[in-house]
Amino acid sequence: MRTPATHTGFSTRAIHHGYNPAENQGALVPPIHTSATWVFPDTAYGARCFAGEEQGYIYTRISNPTLALLEARLASLEQGAGAVVFGSGMGAITATLWSMLEPGDEILTDQTLYGCTFAFLHHGIGHFGVQVRHVDMTDPANVAAALSDKTRVLYLESPANPNMRLADIAAIAELAHARGARLVVDNTYCSPYLQQPLTLGADVSVHSMTKYLSGHGDVTAGAAIFADAELAQRVRLYGLKDMTGAVMSPQDAHLVMRGMKTLALRMDRHCENAQKVAKFIEIHPTTARVFYPGLASFPQHQLARRQMRQMGGMMAFELHGGLQAGICFMDALQLVARAVSLGDAESLAQHPASMTHSTYSPEERAAHGISEGLVRLSVGLEDVEDILADIGQALDRVHAAHAARIPPQPCTEPA
Ligand SMILES: Cc1ncc(COP(=O)(O)O)c(C=O)c1O
Repeated sequence: MRTPATHTGFSTRAIHHGYNPAENQGALVPPIHTSATWVFPDTAYGARCFAGEEQGYIYTRISNPTLALLEARLASLEQGAGAVVFGSGMGAITATLWSMLEPGDEILTDQTLYGCTFAFLHHGIGHFGVQVRHVDMTDPANVAAALSDKTRVLYLESPANPNMRLADIAAIAELAHARGARLVVDNTYCSPYLQQPLTLGADVSVHSMTKYLSGHGDVTAGAAIFADAELAQRVRLYGLKDMTGAVMSPQDAHLVMRGMKTLALRMDRHCENAQKVAKFIEIHPTTARVFYPGLASFPQHQLARRQMRQMGGMMAFELHGGLQAGICFMDALQLVARAVSLGDAESLAQHPASMTHSTYSPEERAAHGISEGLVRLSVGLEDVEDILADIGQALDRVHAAHAARIPPQPCTEPA
C-alpha cells in the first residue's frame, strides 16, 4: 500500500494521500469517475445506502469516488475529520451556513467580507429569520462583547478580502466555544499550506478552490473542511444535496488535485514575490499605505507570524490621490492583468469598490473599512523583476499625473 500515513509531509500528502495505484490497474494518476449515478447490486443494498446503513455511492450530487479522493486529501492537509467539495467557493460557503443556521439564530461576522459572502448574508439567509451582525474581529475583545445567547456561528476571513485585516483565530475560537457557538473561517487567501484554521481551534475551514488550491485560473471550485465528521455529513446531505445542489464536476476535481501537487512550491514563490512587491510599493512616493502582513509596518505583523506559515501572495494598497490615482494605476498596467480572482500564476489587479465589493453600498463600504481608492493585488509567479518593472512604471505614471495636476485627475489614455 503506497498511501502514506498522515504524519508524512505536506507535499507528500498533497500528491499521494488516499490513492493506491495498485487498486486502479497501476494508473499513476487517479481515474476520473464521470458517472452521475451508481448501480446497486440489489434493491436491498440501494435501500441500505439511502438509509445510511451502507457507505456505497448513490448519485454524484451526494458523493463520487473522484470527489471523495479530493475530500480525503483536503481533510488530511488541514487535519479535519471530513471535507465536502463544491462547484464553487460560494457553493461551499452557502451550503455550510444553510446547514448550520436556523430562523431565530444569529451569525456574528467580521466587518470585512468578500462581496458575495456579504451579499448572501444580507440579501440571502438574512431574509429567512437569521440575524446577521458585524463586529470588528481584529480585536477579540470586540467579539467577546458582541456574543449573545443567540449566536450560533461566528464567521471570518483571515486575511480578509480585500483590506487584509487579520483575526486571531485561536482566541476567537475559544470565545465561540465558551458560548456554545462554532467558528467558520474562510481560508481562501492562505490555502491549507499557509494556515490551518482547524489546528487553531476553528470548527470549519472554507475555501474558494478557484484560487490557490487549483492555482491556474481554469476551474471554479470550493471546499469545506470540518473538525466534526457529523457536521460534514449534515452539510453534505442537506446543504449540498438539498439546499444548493452546488456539486463539483469530477473533471474539475481532477484539475484541483493536479494543482494541489504543486501547491507548496507555488505558495513559496507567491510569498517570496509578494514580499518584494510589497516592499517596493511601500517606498514609492505615490504610495499612501500598503496592507501586507509581511511588512513590519503592518499592524498585525506579529499575529501573522504566529498563525501563518508565510505571509501570502495577496496585498492591498492606497495611493496619494485616492480613487482617481487607483484607477490611473490600474489602467497603466501592462503585464499585471486587470482582473478579479486571485491565486493564479498570472499577477492580477482589481479595484474592490467597483468590482468584487460593489455588492456593498458606498455607505456600507465606508462602515466596513473598504476605501474607495483601494487596489487589490494578487502577486503571481512571473519573474519578480518583470512584476516590479510593470508596477513601477504604473506608479511612476500616477506620480507624474498627480504632480502635474492637483487635485489628481484620472489618466486619460489607458496604457
Ligand atoms: C475570500 C473569498 N471567499 C470566497 C470566494 C468565492 O469563491 P468562488 O468564486 O469560487 O465562488 C472568493 C472569490 O473571490 C473569495 O475571494
